[in-house]
Amino acid sequence: MRTSSILLRALFAVGAAAILAGPVLAEEPAYEGRKKCSSCHKSEYKSWVETRHAKALESLMPGAKTEEKLKAKLDPDKDYSADKDCVGCHVTGYGKEGGYDPEDPGKYLVGVGCESCHGPGSEYRLVHRKAGEAFENKQETTPREELAAAGQEFHFIERCNACHLNFEGSSWPGAAKPYTPFTPAVDPKYTFDFEKAVRDNKAMHEHYKLDGTFTGEPMPEFHKEFQSQAKAGEKGAEE
Ligand code: HEC
Ligand code: HEC
Ligand code: HEC
Ligand code: HEC
Repeated sequence: MRTSSILLRALFAVGAAAILAGPVLAEEPAYEGRKKCSSCHKSEYKSWVETRHAKALESLMPGAKTEEKLKAKLDPDKDYSADKDCVGCHVTGYGKEGGYDPEDPGKYLVGVGCESCHGPGSEYRLVHRKAGEAFENKQETTPREELAAAGQEFHFIERCNACHLNFEGSSWPGAAKPYTPFTPAVDPKYTFDFEKAVRDNKAMHEHYKLDGTFTGEPMPEFHKEFQSQAKAGEKGAEE
């Protein structure tokens, strides 16, 4: 009796959580590439394109980062740009629906792009468009919960960890092959501190002021901090 009522309560909690999380998606959201984002978010794009994330695939080319590769016992003359032990962390959505495929390398999926951090965008970008129109035409706001339900990421840390803390002996419990060759054992500068790293605007992108189209939770704890220091940005519209 006791166990079954605990079980019932647990089942109820799962059901309630699913209802609170909003409509269940018929299909998993797919990766589409940064062109879909940059058409509306010009300022973030222009800032991101200068980052090492944007240029991450170039590091896998022969002749690039020779000293760093030697230090990590890699062959600096080898082309690693289609190597399945490397490419996954240096592109967007590798091995996922709509993501980067070395056999057919879509140019908007090259490097660690928007969707690597913000999540696969096929569903939530449609919510952005609709909400943007409702805000502009009728000053109507949209709850962020709708974005989370459509697959947009607001916690970030697990996505960062999957690339930055994926090595043997890592403190991150999700670590699994293929591992990054650039670990704190190779050089302490490769130690990953999320709280510090996520505040590095030269590694993410500069932050620009939002008009307030989306409201409420979920919000990362640094959202207000970033917005309080954000610049005035340039917007676009999808063609
Ligand atoms: C049709 C235009 C359009 C497209 C396409 C689009 N967005 Fe947006 N997005 C918006 C608008 C409008 C807002 C609300 C901006 C504001 O409040 O100032 C927004 C807000 C955001 C926010 C902030 C959400 C919050 O917490 O308030 C993020 C992050 C974002 N977009 C990322 C993306 C990414 C990544 C993509 C590509 C997968 C994308 N957007 C595609 C129009 C678009
Ligand atoms: C898909 C894998 C991937 C994800 C996700 C990812 N990164 Fe990275 N990150 C990389 C790679 C690869 C590099 C090195 C790029 C190069 O130099 O080739 C890098 C570089 C960096 C750097 C150093 C850049 C510099 O200019 O010194 C910082 C800081 C960083 N990432 C922070 C983060 C944070 C914070 C997140 C999550 C919000 C994140 N990364 C998400 C793969 C990733
Ligand atoms: C699990 C994810 C992952 C895999 C797999 C991976 N990398 Fe990376 N790589 C990273 C991250 C994260 C960084 C950024 C490290 C930093 O700066 O803290 C990076 C950085 C680099 C750099 C730049 C180092 C520097 O100091 O500028 C090179 C070169 C590189 N990787 C090559 C490779 C090669 C070659 C392979 C395959 C043998 C590979 N990577 C596999 C995640 C990965
Ligand atoms: C390495 C991770 C990372 C990548 C790559 C990335 N972003 Fe972001 N982005 C963030 C973080 C972290 C925030 C802060 C979220 C917040 O304040 O709620 C953010 C915030 C935003 C915002 C909200 C307004 C602002 O400027 O803070 C927009 C819009 C946005 N990103 C669009 C993009 C677009 C478009 C791309 C690709 C061109 C992109 N992002 C690539 C991590 C990333």
